[in-house]
Amino acid sequence: MKVLVTGRLPEQVLSLIRKEHDLTAHASDVPMDRRELLALVGDVDGLLCMITDRVDEELLAAGRNLKMIANMAVGFDNINVGAATARGIWVSNTPGVLNDATADLTFALILAVSRRVIESDAITRSGRFKPWAPFSFLGTDVTGKTLGIIGLGNIGKEVARRAHGFRMPVLYHNRRRLDPVAEQDIGVRFSDLDALLSESDYVSLHVPLTDQTRRLITGRELKLMRRTAYLINVSRGPVVDEAALVQALQSGWIAGAGLDVYENEPSLASGLAQLPNVVLLPHIGSATLETRTQMAALAAENLLAGLRGETPPNCLNCPRTLA
Ligand code: GLV
Repeated sequence: MKVLVTGRLPEQVLSLIRKEHDLTAHASDVPMDRRELLALVGDVDGLLCMITDRVDEELLAAGRNLKMIANMAVGFDNINVGAATARGIWVSNTPGVLNDATADLTFALILAVSRRVIESDAITRSGRFKPWAPFSFLGTDVTGKTLGIIGLGNIGKEVARRAHGFRMPVLYHNRRRLDPVAEQDIGVRFSDLDALLSESDYVSLHVPLTDQTRRLITGRELKLMRRTAYLINVSRGPVVDEAALVQALQSGWIAGAGLDVYENEPSLASGLAQLPNVVLLPHIGSATLETRTQMAALAAENLLAGLRGETPPNCLNCPRTLA
């Protein structure tokens, strides 16, 4: 069968696909041009795609032979899964393998924004490091502060586990409340959204992007947060109204933000990059060599299973998964 891979992946992963199929692989880190993608998808059976590829009605209609779409990401808001299902195309994602890397990066953001790590590094390298002074470069303690996790899925749970190392009480808000034994095991307390926003020193977002979570955080929610609190987002940009966040940061409604994702990636909302109280990363939540290699391998494993007619291990819409 014919397979298209839209991102630059390690040879060890591509060779697994080549063993069974006729492979066309994009060889650049610049996302595949939309027109090229629409043309190439025309005769492929399997597509291994990236979050930068929009798999919508137009693409699905162009992919007349498509049977299997493997997204190399845990989030799959770039794919119209309902439309794929209606066409009998299986869709998979890569859950699990990126939990630790993404939870680690959440803490990198919490620590960097609280302890002014980026600003201090810039000053040190530029030769402006003056002798030590008792009240300069002051940040804020992380240890013992309250962490509010919105979305306690696999990544949110790993963030909670790390928080205990910092002796942080952890509140969480989730679509479904966990059972009390699980709450106790993970060491988290359920809270309604507004209470979590007003009681947390750090509000960290770990929800998937859906119709229910788009713009979950607007001006109203930011105003509920403490003036000393920080917003951390490693989920998806559109969960936050980014213009409202800029206003909140400019007006002192909250103390700062650590962001890995943006509403219109790779563009930033006007004013965001000029703010001193933000740490801005280029969507690198899962970007470690070990994790991205595992994600690529898992996406390939799903793709190959689907094309063999087996149920892909991380199928999002296979009849057996849906049952
Ligand atoms: C990355 O953003 C992912 O969803 O895996």
